[in-house]
Amino acid sequence: MMLKVSFILVVCSLTFQGIIAANNVVCYYASWGASRPGNGKITAKDIPANLCTHVFYAFLGLNDDGSLLIMNETLDVDLGNLKGISDLKQINPNLKAIFSVGGAAADTAVFESVAEDPEKRKNLANSAIDLCKQYNYDGIDIDWEYPEINATFVALLKDLKGYLEPHGLLLAAAVDQLPFNAAYDVRNMSKYLDILNIMSYDFHSPYYQTGQNSPLYFTPKEGEWQRDNLNANSSMVHWIQYGATPEKMTMGCGFYGKAMILADPSKHDIMDPVATANSPGPYTDNIGTLGYNEICEFHINSSTVVWEDDQKVPYLYEDTLWVGYDDERSVSLKAQYVKDHNLFGLMMWSVETDDAYGYCGNGNWPLLNAINKVMKEDL
Ligand SMILES: *[C@@H]1O[C@H](CO)[C@@H](O)[C@H](O)[C@H]1NC(C)=O
Ligand SMILES: *[C@@H]1O[C@H](CO)[C@@H](O)[C@H](O)[C@H]1NC(C)=O
Ligand SMILES: *[C@@H]1O[C@H](CO)[C@@H](O)[C@H](O)[C@H]1NC(C)=O
Ligand SMILES: *[C@@H]1O[C@H](CO)[C@@H](O)[C@H](O)[C@H]1NC(C)=O
Ligand SMILES: *[C@@H]1O[C@H](CO)[C@@H](O)[C@H](O)[C@H]1NC(C)=O
Repeated sequence: MMLKVSFILVVCSLTFQGIIAANNVVCYYASWGASRPGNGKITAKDIPANLCTHVFYAFLGLNDDGSLLIMNETLDVDLGNLKGISDLKQINPNLKAIFSVGGAAADTAVFESVAEDPEKRKNLANSAIDLCKQYNYDGIDIDWEYPEINATFVALLKDLKGYLEPHGLLLAAAVDQLPFNAAYDVRNMSKYLDILNIMSYDFHSPYYQTGQNSPLYFTPKEGEWQRDNLNANSSMVHWIQYGATPEKMTMGCGFYGKAMILADPSKHDIMDPVATANSPGPYTDNIGTLGYNEICEFHINSSTVVWEDDQKVPYLYEDTLWVGYDDERSVSLKAQYVKDHNLFGLMMWSVETDDAYGYCGNGNWPLLNAINKVMKEDL
């Protein structure tokens, strides 16, 4: 009888884990969101704890000796933003809090010098273990954009895995849209990493012609190479072809759009000419992009919104402004893709630019809610 009960328990827990594996909602949080003005300000404790399975705190840096560097002492420590993420576990005990190290603006030379030196790799691991204990985090994420030397990237991951695993800590990495980088020894990466966050967005620049941030599929208007490489599905397919383990991979989506100024406001289709990138939004302050929060608060009701059915993403235009972005429908389709292909989950950059106050008219945090609705169906 005992045997039978424990057998049932094992089967249940395996099945449960099997289902959970493909349903993760991996939320990157840009910590400087807590320093933005007005409605753009979102602190760690504002994140809806039950709508993320993982929160990645972006970013920590690296000191020359390999130890982790807190980037903004005031924000990260004094104002409690770092701790705000692990405090979300009081609401959602299953939530995993991860330190994300590096980012697009980080110095790749420091990464290189740490990765090629076994002592520094060990310092990084020890510092990560200490910080995880101190702040009740569950692992680290290497966001090295991008490694150039083959052996060192994998050597770094191998050592980190060896040091972190005995402490039950997770190792993740954020990687390029496509696996073609010579430094990406994909099979070994897949072996040492628990999570590969594939940054399947930023597919089109806002300077030349209208194009989507994160199309799920190609449009027949594109050339052959573009069709096979510049969309989230192609990213996933190529990473798997190169030997990545699907169950460890996330598909990335953007809670922001690519924003550009049309050369001719009467030409507002996909791949029409662009004059230049749009000026920075009031919250995200980044040329050529707008957060979904900014799209919802300032543009959605005054724009024409078009659903691009080939690429499964919307775009909007308003006079000369053109924005290719993700909405509830497009992130739901991406979440469904993740389930259909048994990937680890859907990842987003970044959670604090969701429409937290419901200006798009679909409630608060509509993108996160849409993703969770798909992830929690048919459990
Ligand atoms: C650090 O965070 C504080 C508090 O949000 C902010 O006022 C300050 O501008 C930030 N410093 C930098 C360099 O980003
Ligand atoms: C990376 O490693 C592979 C396999 O070991 C090797 O064939 C390739 O030349 C290396 N690339 C670089 C840039 O070192
Ligand atoms: C990567 O994988 C190959 C083949 O399994 C192995 O020979 C090699 O040592 C690995 N590289 C590292 C840095 O672990
Ligand atoms: C997904 O991507 C692969 C690789 O580019 C491609 O062969 C396949 O046709 C794509 N699937 C769809 C439905 O577009
Ligand atoms: C846009 O319209 C919807 C109703 O269609 C409304 O709920 C929402 O508040 C409006 N947003 C703004 C920014 O005015």
